[in-house]
Amino acid sequence: MIHKQNVAIFFVYYFILCCLGSPLCEDIGSETPISHLSTKTAYFNADKDDTNWERFNNEVKDCKAQQVWLLNRHGTRYPTGNDMDRLVRVLPSVAKQVVANYDQGRGCLPDKDVDNLRDWFPPYGPRDKENLQEMGFDELYSIGEYWRDLYPHLFNVEYDPYKFKVDFTVKNRTGQSAYHFMRGMFGDDAIGTIEFPEPHSPNFILRFYKSCPRWLKEVYRNNETTYKERRLFTSGKEFQSVVHAVSARLGFLHPLTPAQIESIYDECRYETAWWPLRKSAWCLPFSTYDFEVMEYHQDLKYYYEDSYGQPLNLETACQAVSNIYSHFSNSINLGRAKFSGIFNFAHDKTIFQVMTRLGLFRPSQHLRHDNFANMKNRVWKTSYLSPFAANLAFVLFGCGDDYRMGTFFQGQPIPLAEKCEGISCHWEEIKSWFEDNADTCNLSKLCMLHDEL
Ligand SMILES: *[C@@H]1O[C@H](CO)[C@@H](O)[C@H](O)[C@H]1NC(C)=O
Ligand SMILES: *[C@@H]1O[C@H](CO)[C@@H](O)[C@H](O)[C@H]1NC(C)=O
Ligand SMILES: *[C@@H]1O[C@H](CO)[C@@H](O)[C@H](O)[C@H]1NC(C)=O
Repeated sequence: MIHKQNVAIFFVYYFILCCLGSPLCEDIGSETPISHLSTKTAYFNADKDDTNWERFNNEVKDCKAQQVWLLNRHGTRYPTGNDMDRLVRVLPSVAKQVVANYDQGRGCLPDKDVDNLRDWFPPYGPRDKENLQEMGFDELYSIGEYWRDLYPHLFNVEYDPYKFKVDFTVKNRTGQSAYHFMRGMFGDDAIGTIEFPEPHSPNFILRFYKSCPRWLKEVYRNNETTYKERRLFTSGKEFQSVVHAVSARLGFLHPLTPAQIESIYDECRYETAWWPLRKSAWCLPFSTYDFEVMEYHQDLKYYYEDSYGQPLNLETACQAVSNIYSHFSNSINLGRAKFSGIFNFAHDKTIFQVMTRLGLFRPSQHLRHDNFANMKNRVWKTSYLSPFAANLAFVLFGCGDDYRMGTFFQGQPIPLAEKCEGISCHWEEIKSWFEDNADTCNLSKLCMLHDEL
């Protein structure tokens, strides 16, 4: 089964790693970078930037929040259907082999961790597929509380169905996220009285990409273009060094496949998000450097699938952005806000594409397979941009006769640097951009396939 040539190459690697002074086993049990696990980083573990508050508070000191438009990714979840099937297929046999390797004196795992793997069984089953995990309940609950405490005049009030608009997608986890968010905001007593809407599909504001045939064809299912950089990175030296190091640390005499490595990495990330105080045995074979490579490997996927990597991704969220504008301009025209809160619960793709439409966190150069080292301090990192429960909020402030709009990311004010001056935007300044967006936004036109002749 195993190609002789691969075995030979592997022994060369093994030799370099183990015997030329690179301390292969010393990296076992490196600290797991819990805030850098790409889109499977738990919300409480994610990095947040709280450095803009002073400037922000100064800008809005004569203003009062009138309306909040929130876009929240669902919280920490169980694996989706496909992921769960793959993990259940791959991992038990990998665990068995790792234990066998250990019993034959190979690999670097400590005894107690081998024992963990000896008994290992996936800590989830078919009924958990796609659902929010308990950590996700806590995340959304605390985000609900956070906004209630930030703007108590809007949210520390008795629930009134006419003052709040809630929407989520047909995926169970976003409805569950809405539920726990509202529980955090209005309390356990009120939650039973809140009626949630039936989710609808298509949803052009929260899941526009799914109903965009052109995006599905040109981006999502365009293996050739979209996944090119990632494919090249997978066969490149950084990723291959991870494959070989992880395989060797687990005592394999031949390198595991990239798919096996990814499954080990995924299980490590899930278990870390669910149980941050336990150390998952599946995280042990990765060194600090390996985790950075794996994060970049993830970033290369999302960057081209949902962000600046492809021009179409700059357009797809235009209707979501129009929705913010229409709520805010209605409030301004009316002289009062009909809704105090418009709360939306969706997915990482929604967050990424809305951010891309807004020009947020645009990197100085594209992420590519050959600039990993240069991009070490890139601003575009999935771990930072879309951990579980990632959220973007837009707040309309009334300031006397004037208006401002604040942008919040993970509850912290951030500048919309490409669209306006300051940490918050003067309404007149952002308004013209919003108008442009609305004028040019036509999803049926944008998403039409042009080559169906
Ligand atoms: C959503 O999750 C809840 C809680 O686990 C479950 O009771 C419900 O049946 C799920 N619904 C769907 C459509 O999966
Ligand atoms: C994607 O494209 C690459 C390069 O053309 C090819 O080697 C690979 O088999 C393709 N994968 C799928 C799933 O189509
Ligand atoms: C959007 O584009 C479609 C297709 O080109 C067109 O038929 C429709 O009138 C446009 N809608 C608006 C509001 O301009």
